[in-house]
Amino acid sequence: MQRGMARCFVTRRLPFPALDRLSSRHEVDVWPERLPPPYEELVARAADAEGLLTLLTDRIDASLIEHSPRLRAISNYAVGYDNIDLEAASARGIPVGNTPDVLTDATADLAFALLLAAARKLPAAIAAVRDGDWLTWEPAQYLGASVFGATLGIVGFGRIGQAVARRASGFEMNVLHTGSGGEPVETLLERSDFVSLHCPLTPETYHLIDDAALSLMKAGAILVNTARGPIVDHDALRRALIAGEIAGAALDVTDPEPLPSGDPLLAAPNLIVVPHIGSATQAARGRMADLAVDNLLAGLDGQPMPHQVGAAR
Ligand code: DGY
Repeated sequence: MQRGMARCFVTRRLPFPALDRLSSRHEVDVWPERLPPPYEELVARAADAEGLLTLLTDRIDASLIEHSPRLRAISNYAVGYDNIDLEAASARGIPVGNTPDVLTDATADLAFALLLAAARKLPAAIAAVRDGDWLTWEPAQYLGASVFGATLGIVGFGRIGQAVARRASGFEMNVLHTGSGGEPVETLLERSDFVSLHCPLTPETYHLIDDAALSLMKAGAILVNTARGPIVDHDALRRALIAGEIAGAALDVTDPEPLPSGDPLLAAPNLIVVPHIGSATQAARGRMADLAVDNLLAGLDGQPMPHQVGAAR
């Protein structure tokens, strides 16, 4: 059953038609800037909102929820929801929605693109052409690692991890994973030529890839992270890259985000960093907007969200 008009705060412009469906039913305040609302502004705008459509850059913590007495639904424009205090929302009976499935293939594609780019040293090779350093065909320049037939370890074997495994089968890779029937993470790290992270960020996975984990990896191994930055201890990664403990890393996600251009990690060798673009295809971002709006509309109508996480009591 449809309920009346509600006040919603949308924390960034979403250039997709989905938002029109929200505006046609509710009063919608959209944050107009390129950068996210600062936390104080977020709290102020959420204070009289009944619905929030948030991004992974917005911290929706217990204090914000406490200071938003009218809040009835939160819809996160992301599959990950580590930016939201689910406990605090559930305790208030506020449903929280996310956007799984629609970004699985886009994110798996990017994980594989990063894996290939790191394995075949594409950034250095591209830079050489631009810098006038392509002098001739050389027998031993930009020698990379074989992907075909190599062993890929997938940490976190949910939707995206499994989609990466499907791509790996085309390269006849030997796939290890930490899912049901899979390997303990230590075994996977020891045996893999490539390690790709696809687990959510939780207290258990925070700094899962630390000094000890990196020391288990092969000297020729490459780490790929398209999950969440804090799963990897950046200081440990920097040390491992400098010491040659692993051969390379390719990150779509960092800690913090954005990674400042002067961050010490960026001085480490054999490192690729891209700015959290895993889901950045026109199709995936458009479908995420559809789903985020569907979730919010359902939540505001007191209906189950198409994709709801946590248990609103
Ligand atoms: C997510 O959805 O959690 C991705 O990190 C961004 O699309």
